[in-house]
Amino acid sequence: MEEDSPLLTPEAAQAGGAAAQVAPAAAKTSSNGHVADKRPRPDDARTADARVETSYLGGFGATPSAEKYRKIEKVGVGAYGSVFMAENSETKEIVAIKAASKKEDPVFGGFPLSLLREIGILRSLKHDNIVQMYEVAHTPQGDPLIVMEFCQASLLELIYSQKHDLSFSEIKYIIRQVLDATNHLHQRGILHRDLATKNVLFNRSGEIKVCDFGISRVAFGQDEELGFLPAKGLEPPNMIVSLPYRAIELLMGETHYGPALDVWSCGCILAEILLCQTGRRQPFFGGDPENPNKTPLMYVEEIYKICGKPTEETWPGLCKLKGSKDHNSVKVNNAKMHREQGDEQTFLRQWFRKSEGKPADTKYCLTESFFDLLGSLLTLCPKSRVTAASAMQHPFFTKEKPMPEWHAWHWALASADIPRGDDMKKQRAEDGDARQLLKQLSKDEGFLAAGDEASEKPAKSIAEKWREEAEKKKQQELKRAASMKQQTKAQASDEKLPPGWTKHWSSSKQRYYYHEKKSGRV
Ligand SMILES: Nc1ncnc2c1ncn2[C@@H]1O[C@H](COP(=O)(O)OP(=O)(O)O)[C@@H](O)[C@H]1O
Ligand SMILES: [Mg+2]
Repeated sequence: MEEDSPLLTPEAAQAGGAAAQVAPAAAKTSSNGHVADKRPRPDDARTADARVETSYLGGFGATPSAEKYRKIEKVGVGAYGSVFMAENSETKEIVAIKAASKKEDPVFGGFPLSLLREIGILRSLKHDNIVQMYEVAHTPQGDPLIVMEFCQASLLELIYSQKHDLSFSEIKYIIRQVLDATNHLHQRGILHRDLATKNVLFNRSGEIKVCDFGISRVAFGQDEELGFLPAKGLEPPNMIVSLPYRAIELLMGETHYGPALDVWSCGCILAEILLCQTGRRQPFFGGDPENPNKTPLMYVEEIYKICGKPTEETWPGLCKLKGSKDHNSVKVNNAKMHREQGDEQTFLRQWFRKSEGKPADTKYCLTESFFDLLGSLLTLCPKSRVTAASAMQHPFFTKEKPMPEWHAWHWALASADIPRGDDMKKQRAEDGDARQLLKQLSKDEGFLAAGDEASEKPAKSIAEKWREEAEKKKQQELKRAASMKQQTKAQASDEKLPPGWTKHWSSSKQRYYYHEKKSGRV
């Protein structure tokens, strides 16, 4: 298996690579293809996280800025810490607080490097589509906490929520804002280096806020006379950007990378949103969800399959990149080659019209302007790839109907919350069960159809069988819930509880708990 160490903290990398040795453990990809844990973390990081939670957030400590925040709930867990919803007890404002784990950087004795880097970058930015930092609070130990505006969910959580359906104009609205934020960063010479649906936040009003600047950095300058000037000592290309969103030039080993890498991630986000709205639950370049151990080579193979294979003519300088020699497999060698520049669009159209992307084409009637935009965001040669500024001016956003727009009325009616964090994972697991069933049914369908042909009886459609199975499952679930309720009642009447206390069954923890109504104690 090819070694890959995603998202190593840059300073740690420069400090002699000791941290790089722990990095491969962080390269695990979850079964749906999303990189679960992005930065290297020691094995005992989970226990460390739990300690940090209590020590940092039990009332947020003694310093004036920290103690006014009251923790409400955990809304996100990252590689090096956690994000909490909290209330500013003076203003009653709801905020988000990001705390780093003590174990963040083994080389620097747990110093929260990525948090400090993030603070530096966030301080220098002010844009409607970039999460706003309010202040830096301190724990009693003097560790920093980022206090920022609270957002309802991440794009990943939104598109995995089965109860929320996005229209084409809303998808345009979202992507244009992601491009707007990306352009703002690039105007300032900053590369985000980890754009992904999990790092783009969303509010019900349709506002998008790019977050997670933990591995961002000022990485280039643009001079009128000298042109593009990359910063010296950029981190190796295999240490930035989560694998499914990692630009092809990084996968090929390009060390002089620039803003084009964030634009590639924007293309992956656009395609992922569209496909997730048709029930698919994986990143655009996610590979086979049943094979969680994906290597960079597998991503190259999939990119070439969907976007076509570049040549030295369509990507000048390609053969000098390390990956041209290293990424050698039957799939890479047999991939269909580009005939001319811009062929990505032709390949993508084919994939959405005639292959696995068809459900998205059926649902949204994808237009030529869409294929043109997606083809330019996912142009393999980074020098020919569109810039974020030009992409925002594409006719897809400016001329073609429907125009980018948010349907606020539809969101005002949608009462269901978007499952976050662990709840999203639970939903994904249930979704996985459903998928297994659908797969099984499809297999049976083939088998049954053949048998029925012989007996000349019409075969049951997959949808019919799916409905039957779903109904059976529902009945089983109702029965189980009813018997559980009865059991709880019987046991509660057996036990003598103090006045005001009741006994309940927690289906998530699979055990009983006691609750006092007056104090809310559990
Ligand atoms: N301002 C915020 N409001 C609401 N949720 C947030 C906010 N910031 C982060 N989150 C949630 O927490 C998760 C982890 O935060 P992130 O900044 O990406 O940390 P990490 O660097 O550890 O990945 C995000 O994916 C998101 O779900
Ligand atoms: Mg993140």
